[in-house]
Amino acid sequence: MSEPVIVPLARPSIDRRDRENVRAVLESGQLVQGSRVAALEAAVAATVGVDHAVAVSSGTATLHLALLSFGTGPGDEVIVPAFSHVATANAVELTGAKPVFVDVDPGSFNIQPDGMARAISGRTKVLMPVHEFGFPADMGKILEIAESHRLPVVEDAACALGSQWSGRKVGSFGAAGSFSLHPRKAVTSGEGGVLATNDSGRASFFRIMRNHGMDDSGQTPDFVQAGFNYRMTDIQAALVLGQIERLETLIARRRAVAERYDRELRGRFFRKPPFPATGRTNWQSYHIVLDDTVDQTEFLAFLREKGIGANYGAQCIPMQTYYRRKYGYDAGDFPEAYRAFRRGVVLPLFDSMTERQATHVIESVNGYRS
Ligand SMILES: Cc1ncc(COP(=O)(O)O)c(C=O)c1O
Repeated sequence: MSEPVIVPLARPSIDRRDRENVRAVLESGQLVQGSRVAALEAAVAATVGVDHAVAVSSGTATLHLALLSFGTGPGDEVIVPAFSHVATANAVELTGAKPVFVDVDPGSFNIQPDGMARAISGRTKVLMPVHEFGFPADMGKILEIAESHRLPVVEDAACALGSQWSGRKVGSFGAAGSFSLHPRKAVTSGEGGVLATNDSGRASFFRIMRNHGMDDSGQTPDFVQAGFNYRMTDIQAALVLGQIERLETLIARRRAVAERYDRELRGRFFRKPPFPATGRTNWQSYHIVLDDTVDQTEFLAFLREKGIGANYGAQCIPMQTYYRRKYGYDAGDFPEAYRAFRRGVVLPLFDSMTERQATHVIESVNGYRS
C-alpha cells in the first residue's frame, strides 16, 4: 500500500538560500533592525511600485500605524469590510475609533463600494478596504468615493503582495498600503508586516513610531513621540528577502494549482472563487463557499480524516464576541459576510504543492457524499 497523502493548508517557501541568509545574520551577531530590514524595504518598494516601504513586526502593527498617521482616535469612524481577519477591525479599536462595517461582495469577498459610500458620515476618518485572500478590491470605485468625500484610503493588503488591480500593484493606490508576512501569506518572515506609501512624511512617521518614537535624523537621536517597539529583526528580513525576489515564480505556481482546482473540482455543492476580471490575485487562498446542504464543520472533519488541512477562511467580524457585545450586531446585519464565515472553506494551496497532493484534494472533495 502506498503512503497516505498528507496535504497541509499552507507551506512556506523556504529554500537553502533563505536558510543561508538567516544563518549569515545569526553569525554576524547583528540581529535587530539593520541592513537586512533596509534591503527588504527596498525590495518591497520596488515590487509594489511605491517610493517608501517601512517594515514592522506584523500586519496588525502596520494597520495600527497607518491609522495613527491620520490622527485616528476616539470619536472617529473607520469603514472596513464585515468579512476579514479580525485584525482589520482590531487595529481600528486599538486607536480608540469605531469600525463601521460594510457587507462584502459574495464573489470577491471584498467590501461593496456602494455600501461603503452609504456608510460615510461626518465622523469618518479613513476608508480601509481589504484585498481579501489576495483578490484585488475595486480600487477604481473606492478611489472615486474617497476623492468625492476627501477621505484617505488605507489598503489592507495583508494577503495581497503581488496582486494587481488594472495593471498596478495593490497597496500602491491608497495613502498607505499594508502587508502581512505571516506564514499563511505568499511570502513570510515568520511574523512581520510592511507599510507602503508615496508620502515621505508618512513614511517618516512610521519609522519614528515603530522605534519608540525616536527621530534619528538629527545629530543626536531625540524621542519626539510616545512610540511603540514595532520593529522587525534582521533575522526575519533575511528569511523573506529571497522569497520576494522569486515572488513572480511563487505566484505562477500558486495560480497553476488554482487553475487545476478550477478545471477539475466539480463544484456540486459549493461555489468556486472567480478569477478577477480586472487585474490578478496572488492566490493567497482558494476559498470556496458551501451551499446550504453541507455543514462546514462536517466537511472540514471529512477533509481532516483524509489528511487535508482545510480551514474556514475569515471571520464575520461583527459576529465575534467582542464586537457583538460592544455594538450589539445580529447575524442578519451582514448576510454575505455571515454566509462566507459559516460556509466558507479554504482548500490547501501553496507553491510547492505536488500534482499528487492536488489530485488527492480534488478527488477527496469531488468524492464527498457521492
Ligand atoms: C486582511 C488581514 N489584515 C490583517 C491581518 C493581520 O496580519 P498579522 O497576522 O501579520 O498581524 C491579516 C492576517 O492574516 C489579514 O488577513
